[in-house]
Order: sequence, then C-alpha cells, then structure tokens
Amino acid sequence: MRILVIQGPNLNMLGKRKREIYGDKTLEEVDSLVKKEGAALNAEVVSFQSNSEGALIDFIQEEASSADGIIINPGALTHYGLSLRDALSDTRLPVVEVHLSNIYAREEWRARSVIAPIARGQISGLGWRGYISAIQILANELKEGN
Ligand code: DQA
Repeated sequence: MRILVIQGPNLNMLGKRKREIYGDKTLEEVDSLVKKEGAALNAEVVSFQSNSEGALIDFIQEEASSADGIIINPGALTHYGLSLRDALSDTRLPVVEVHLSNIYAREEWRARSVIAPIARGQISGLGWRGYISAIQILANELKEGN
C-alpha cells in the first residue's frame, strides 16, 4: 500500500513558524513519525511539500496512479485552492485532510475548506498526531477494502 502525504504552502516552516499554533516539530520530524507509523501498518509513505499550487498538482497527477490514498494538509490553499481540489478529486483516491490547528477556532476565513467536500474526512486541531491518526484510519480502511 502506498500513501501520499502532501504538505502545502509554508509547512516547510514548521518548528519555526507560530509554534504556539503549529507546534514545535519540524516538517522532517513530522515526516519521519508518519513514515514510522506507515511502516508499522505496512504502508509506504511518499511525502512531498511545496509552496506552489502547480507543483502540488503536478505531484498528485504524477503519483496518483501508483498510490492508494492521500493525506494532505493544504495550508492556506485549504481555503481557496480550487485547482488543487480538482486535482485531488480527479484521482478518485480517498483523501484525508489534516490541519495542525483547529481551523474552526481561528479567523473566520479559515473555517471554510474547499477541500473538505471531496475528502473522505478531516482532522483539525490535534497537532502532528492528526497525521498519525489519518494514516492509521486510511491504512485500516484500505486494508478492509472500504
Ligand atoms: C493549516 C491551517 C491553515 O489555515 C493555514 O493557512 C496553514 C496551516 C493548519 O495545519 O492548521 O498554513 O492548514
């Protein structure tokens, strides 16, 4: 089983950026924790981060045919990234949307996700552990054939 773990704009700054909101862990640390959990679940994790919507779409188009599911934190593209939403939807793969912060407890504009309607589900506000829960749920659902 192959799961894409995709991080959108500014998430390369994890561990440096607004740590009180996004936590202390760097992207590399989060990546390695997700890969470790993936290995325990027999899932290969392919991770990718970009600050550009086009690069995220290129990655999704290139990798989707050999993947079984997608975990994505789209960063601010969550709120307006319609091309990203189309690319995710076109894969027909199960997509789990993850946010480190609780997007419903912050500025009003963050409470709208254009990705959520095409996602299998969303985890918001549980920090880096949200990615761990996402891979557990996705891998188990894929194993069960759901
Ligand atoms: C975020 C929430 C977004 O509103 C924000 O633009 C981010 C990170 C989160 O993980 O909480 O970049 O997706």
